[in-house]
Amino acid sequence: MDVATTVTEVRARVRDWRAAGLRVALVPTMGNLHAGHLSLLAAARYRADRVIASVFVNPLQFGPAEDFAAYPRTLAEDEGLLAEAHCDLLFAPTVEQIYPDGGAQSTLITVRDLASVLCGQFRPGHFDGVATVVAKLFNIVAPDVAVFGEKDFQQYIIIRRMTSDLMLPVEIVGAPTVRAPDGLALSSRNRYLSPEERAIAPAIHRALQAAVKRLDEGDRNFLGIESAGWQALAVAGLRPDYFAVRDANDLQPPRLTSQELVVLTAARLGSARLIDNLRLPLARP
Ligand code: PAF
Repeated sequence: MDVATTVTEVRARVRDWRAAGLRVALVPTMGNLHAGHLSLLAAARYRADRVIASVFVNPLQFGPAEDFAAYPRTLAEDEGLLAEAHCDLLFAPTVEQIYPDGGAQSTLITVRDLASVLCGQFRPGHFDGVATVVAKLFNIVAPDVAVFGEKDFQQYIIIRRMTSDLMLPVEIVGAPTVRAPDGLALSSRNRYLSPEERAIAPAIHRALQAAVKRLDEGDRNFLGIESAGWQALAVAGLRPDYFAVRDANDLQPPRLTSQELVVLTAARLGSARLIDNLRLPLARP
């Protein structure tokens, strides 16, 4: 596996691959890789001849009171894991490469509606930072396909919409959430949990499962389902930001025409903020 740290290097490599008629996939990450990221690599490998993983902790998507400085940076370990996963190129740029103007970044991409709900209410500006850096990565790498984890479901929907609205020639693929045996979704932020908090955290998956079960049985008391999910998390010792049932296509409240529902939650536990979701396709007669 090669490693590129500059925009010029990565562009030159992709140009050569394209000239050889190869299809290129990008897996954007913030590093501190785990089995969830490796599943994204596998999905990318399946869809392309060459796979690039980017590792970049993007300052633009962290709020002033968030964990940018403390975010786990483990580039040496990440490099080893990516090489084992047969990644072709690791793109690990500095902040100066991505934000050469010292971070002023006058241009921001806002995916209105989608970015202001759910996590957007609790992390103002977060999704503008995500959409902007992903658009930059797409412009740098020019991949044919890019793979994102469905654990970050709102992020996935926002990137899909941004790509379609801006007519970027990139196929967006969502890869299923990878879970620990007790149901906890794998996340770099799980490492903030103490052993006691780690034992509490699977309550998130259980609460989502209970909500999906009610929906699957035909219960359409969405407010009741949301409030039961919230209560279950609070009783387990978490501090929920939200527990919501939404249309999986646009994250709006469910309506009669909805073809798929998604139950999403974000909850705080100790110093960690954990997010997760489960989807339910609706059978139509
Ligand atoms: O999901 C992440 O790791 C980040 O939000 C992403 C998509 C790499 C953008 O910085």
